[in-house]
Amino acid sequence: MSGIKESKRGGFGSKIGVVLASAGSAVGLGNIWRFSYMTGQNGGAAFILIYLCCVFLLGLPVMLSEFTIGRRAHSNTMRAYLKLAPGTKWFMLGGMGVLAGFLILGYYSVVCGWTLEYLFQSVAGNMSGKEPEAFNSMFSAFTSSSFRPLMWMILFLLLTHFIVVKGIKKGIEKSSMILMPMLFIIMLVLIGRSVTLPGAREGLSYLFNPDFSKITSSVVLSALGQAFFSLSLGMGCLCTYASYFPDNTNMVKTGVEVTVLDTTVAILSGVIIFPAVFTFGIDPSSGPELVFVTLPNVFQNMIGGYLWSILFYILLTLAALTSTISMHEVVTAFMEEETRISRAKAAWIVTLGCMLIGTYCSLSFGLLGRVTVFGLDLFTLTDFISSKVMLPLGGMFISLFTGWYLDKKILWDELSNHNTLRFRLFKAYLFIIRYVAPVFIACIFLKEIGVL
Ligand code: PFF
Repeated sequence: MSGIKESKRGGFGSKIGVVLASAGSAVGLGNIWRFSYMTGQNGGAAFILIYLCCVFLLGLPVMLSEFTIGRRAHSNTMRAYLKLAPGTKWFMLGGMGVLAGFLILGYYSVVCGWTLEYLFQSVAGNMSGKEPEAFNSMFSAFTSSSFRPLMWMILFLLLTHFIVVKGIKKGIEKSSMILMPMLFIIMLVLIGRSVTLPGAREGLSYLFNPDFSKITSSVVLSALGQAFFSLSLGMGCLCTYASYFPDNTNMVKTGVEVTVLDTTVAILSGVIIFPAVFTFGIDPSSGPELVFVTLPNVFQNMIGGYLWSILFYILLTLAALTSTISMHEVVTAFMEEETRISRAKAAWIVTLGCMLIGTYCSLSFGLLGRVTVFGLDLFTLTDFISSKVMLPLGGMFISLFTGWYLDKKILWDELSNHNTLRFRLFKAYLFIIRYVAPVFIACIFLKEIGVL
């Protein structure tokens, strides 16, 4: 990479900007849409319990490792390994991250597109006066059609594109500072309505009363995959963001704040969704459509539901947007810094590539529905490969890299800001990334593929 390009790299301008942009990446459809259907498919509270363990015991340490790599290297995720481990194959870990970012952004934008359609339908007033069953058919008719989902997916990618092109401070940081606080406020209002629904008790008990017999290796793998997905870990996303952190950022504190914020939003969205699931007799294990069929029912039962529904889908869109921006940035920063092309051109390549992936993922709900690989449709396959295979594997190798390859002094230097901050749990952190995280992730993997 040329010195000129490196010195032109942008950076975040404020502490709160750092936290909100990182939390913006973490908080997204994964917390609301994916978390709720994963919880529903994996047996409720028991899944959440395992999820929480994965988040705090494995996710947070891996996040600190990504922060360290990124801020130390001040470059895109692949270049970071080339700088910190010259002459080795570790750069492939960065390369896998870029590829995962590309794949996830492709299928994620399909769901972002659904969010835009629901926003549009809310504004048009088509969400009121419907029976629960009607939302079901509305959802399947929409997702299995060809044109509209594609149109919204493309629009969403263009929105992401234009923010990323604006750069770190004016695009990414500024948008997160506005969108994140709004999301939080709206969630609180929606909870107020949801917990007063008749099915609230049943819904909350499903969320908080674990049935331990439901825990299987597949539940644990799903919880681990979900933890990495929700925290944006394993693909160098937070590593890329950390490369824009100022030198005085307290990364341990930032990591804890981002993790707590992300987990809170996930649990709260469960509190919004599951009371409604039980009130309206929807099957909690119904899969990806859960949010798009359940939530409209909640709005129907709220005074001023028309407005709340609009507001909710605006905010869901915006939360999703802060996440798509971060995935886009991983690939754009890579393209820009590793080639001679401008940021704008790099961003276009990413946008167009993701439109392609988004197209086959979207059509897998209709036209390409019969195309399956290993028994999975293309959307589920892309989700499986990227979030259940690449993210946990990425997390495992990131732990191994920071735990065993990287000099401990570098780790300490970064996490303590050159010995100016305390980090009492440093030894525990080291123990986790050296032994616990890699072994745990490897065991779950081997179990899943039938070796253990
Ligand atoms: N964390 C985001 C969410 O929960 O929606 C999704 C995501 C963003 C995954 C960035 C991975 C990533 F690198």
